[in-house]
Amino acid sequence: MAKEYNISVIPGDGTGPEVVAEGLKILQIVADKCGFSLNYNHHNLGGEHYKATGEILPDSVLELLSESDAIYLGAIGHPDVKPGILEKGILLKIRFYFDQYINLRPVKLYEGVDTPLKNKGPEDIDFVVIRENTEGLYAGAGGCLKRGTSDEVAIQESINTRKGVERCIRYAFEFCRKRNKRKKLTFCGKTNVLTFAFDLWERTFNEIASEYPDVETDYAHVDAICMWMVKNPEWFDVIVTDNMFGDIITDLAAMIQGGMGIAAGANINPNGVSMFEPIGGSAPRYTGKQMINPIAAISAAQIMLETIGEPNAASWIEEGVIKVLRDDLKDVAAGRMGYTTQEVGDLVADYIIRLKK
Ligand code: IPM
Ligand code: MN
Repeated sequence: MAKEYNISVIPGDGTGPEVVAEGLKILQIVADKCGFSLNYNHHNLGGEHYKATGEILPDSVLELLSESDAIYLGAIGHPDVKPGILEKGILLKIRFYFDQYINLRPVKLYEGVDTPLKNKGPEDIDFVVIRENTEGLYAGAGGCLKRGTSDEVAIQESINTRKGVERCIRYAFEFCRKRNKRKKLTFCGKTNVLTFAFDLWERTFNEIASEYPDVETDYAHVDAICMWMVKNPEWFDVIVTDNMFGDIITDLAAMIQGGMGIAAGANINPNGVSMFEPIGGSAPRYTGKQMINPIAAISAAQIMLETIGEPNAASWIEEGVIKVLRDDLKDVAAGRMGYTTQEVGDLVADYIIRLKK
């Protein structure tokens, strides 16, 4: 019997629905070609839904998400909703609820895509950032006193547990070994200042490293890694870091791979329900304009298929992405593709349909 997967789809806000539509188009094509089927459950969540109903992410929806094999997300964020409400209430809530403790972000410069880095090309920019996704400054620990007065105190603490740090680092070593490229894992921290949190990280990293003699290890402070990523991106194969630093360095990384229209990410619980998303956000100004590059959403669908166990179908998607970026799209990094969102999806679709394997 053909395999079946249940996918929860959250198109979300702004341009999310436009790019998700293209991702779903491509998913259908590769599913047909590879002989598996995808059942979708669409969930109307995000700013508009919140404004209309006051509902953010009801338990009934969490229940439905938990029955799915994966979650495919467009974007969350609405100009009329105070920052933090939807991000914490939907995106972070799902990451935490499903214990998606890995945030995986491939950083690959495809041929035909411009990078702002002078004299660097696709052979130099090909690494993966593995960001801890459930702890650190994102855990929400802290509080405030005397808010709004001149005596105000605000405390925001970074929570790092041995278990949380260890499972993330272990995942990174395994990933680096399986990826089998340069087999080099760089730990990114701030051991010279954050001497409690990154002491735990460093000791755990060194302990686990001894189990992976085939993986070369390296260390960089977070500020220095921003410098090296711009100057010598070819040094990196896999980078592992905490939640906040991972958030920051992956925006920088997205820019060197051609921008937010290209960058995809995965929120992974290796034993549970994972979520896949283009990392560009909802870009509210462009809503409905068909101007956003759907490649990031299409690549997120690719990572989803790799993760749920359809690597063949995933590699077809990547072939389509490679072809269209190399031969068809124009000034991707500058946000001028020469095609509409839908047309880009069609170009990838047409190419994959004609592929024979
Ligand atoms: C990301 C985003 C989120 C984060 C926001 C929207 C909460 O920036 O996925 O990187 O900070 O993790
Ligand atoms: Mn971010």
